[in-house]
Amino acid sequence: MIEFPKRFLWGAATSAYQVEGGNVYSDWWEWEKRANLKNQSGAACRHYDFYNQDLDLAKSLHHNCHRLSIEWSRIEPQEGKFSSEALEHYRLVILALKERGLEPIVTLHHFTNPAWFASLGAWCNKDADKYFLRYVSKVVEVLANNVRFWVTINEPNVYAYFSYLLGFWPPQEKSLIKSTRVMNTLERIHIKAYRLIRQIYKEKNLMPPKISVAQNMQAFVPCRLSLRNKLAAYLRHKSYNLGFIDKIFRHKALDFIGVNYYSPTWVELKGWGIKNFASDVCEKDHHHLKKNSMGWDIYPQGLYDVLISIKRYKLPVFILENGICTEDDALRWEFIQEHLKSVNKALLSGLEIMGFIYWSLLDNFEWDKGFSPRFGLIGIDYNTFQRTVRESAKKFAQVCLTGKL
Ligand code: BGC
Repeated sequence: MIEFPKRFLWGAATSAYQVEGGNVYSDWWEWEKRANLKNQSGAACRHYDFYNQDLDLAKSLHHNCHRLSIEWSRIEPQEGKFSSEALEHYRLVILALKERGLEPIVTLHHFTNPAWFASLGAWCNKDADKYFLRYVSKVVEVLANNVRFWVTINEPNVYAYFSYLLGFWPPQEKSLIKSTRVMNTLERIHIKAYRLIRQIYKEKNLMPPKISVAQNMQAFVPCRLSLRNKLAAYLRHKSYNLGFIDKIFRHKALDFIGVNYYSPTWVELKGWGIKNFASDVCEKDHHHLKKNSMGWDIYPQGLYDVLISIKRYKLPVFILENGICTEDDALRWEFIQEHLKSVNKALLSGLEIMGFIYWSLLDNFEWDKGFSPRFGLIGIDYNTFQRTVRESAKKFAQVCLTGKL
């Protein structure tokens, strides 16, 4: 049996666009239509309407925290026009969490932008800071009284790479210059948002909140243990996993480190160019690991490795996402257990870990992959919107209740 600290935070995450439905003012809404995606987000899980029931389920599963995101395009559907209904909606959601004893962890940007912001060039617009901070201040003013944990940006590295370097997501740019520029903008904006949020709490005489980003971290593992593969893996870890964190840490704009971990990347260098170091992976499937339904390898050791690699910042760590999409619920439970063992091992090594948040509370809209990947502790029937609590959720609930596995 393994044991977790007494005041450990246990929960599951959602993001607004992936579960709410009807986010018609978002850049993704427009892009889904333009790109003619087979699965469009549409009503998603109708979580906007059913949040009370969903949070009842989270409570019944003994969660004591919940991570959610605020949809900027609802708060500011047109430039400079703020929706008091939307602000009120999120205020009520936060109250609903508090009433159920769920600590809210609030993300301000989770991949989506208002369509008007996108049409102005989004993060490449010279006034991006001004727009984002104005939105942040509106939200924080309303929610500060009931929120202690803020995540400014979800996975800035994934966002910059998928949207600006690899061209998978809107605005589908394939430019190293633009993706680097967006990363720099997001670093700067995080630092400014961090200071702004703290300032608002100060003016309201509230205890300082805890602020971070949710950093996507991959375990970069050399496929064959050659010196050059090891070097390439190390360099990729330094830049992809730690680059953003290093920068905001140096500016003292980080109260804890939010970690999102899913899978490993097998590094197999094919040449000596800069591009090789940045992108060569092993394409052969000889690693003999179980996989999720999108083909990502399951590698719990990787979570331990990334956790140990951030020990040197001497900051508390919070696992803000870890999860699996699968049709095999027994595999989901195995995944959770194995990853919790890695978390426990890291705790025993002396790392301060505040909590573990599973991705996701509900099956949801998995971006360009649509609705088929099933990440939820709770299954969704997209025809009837009926919720079904999975067996893995019940088993995880016992860990949340007892702190023991
Ligand atoms: C993102 C989620 C996404 C999950 C699974 C994370 O990178 O934050 O929005 O659904 O991974 O792909």
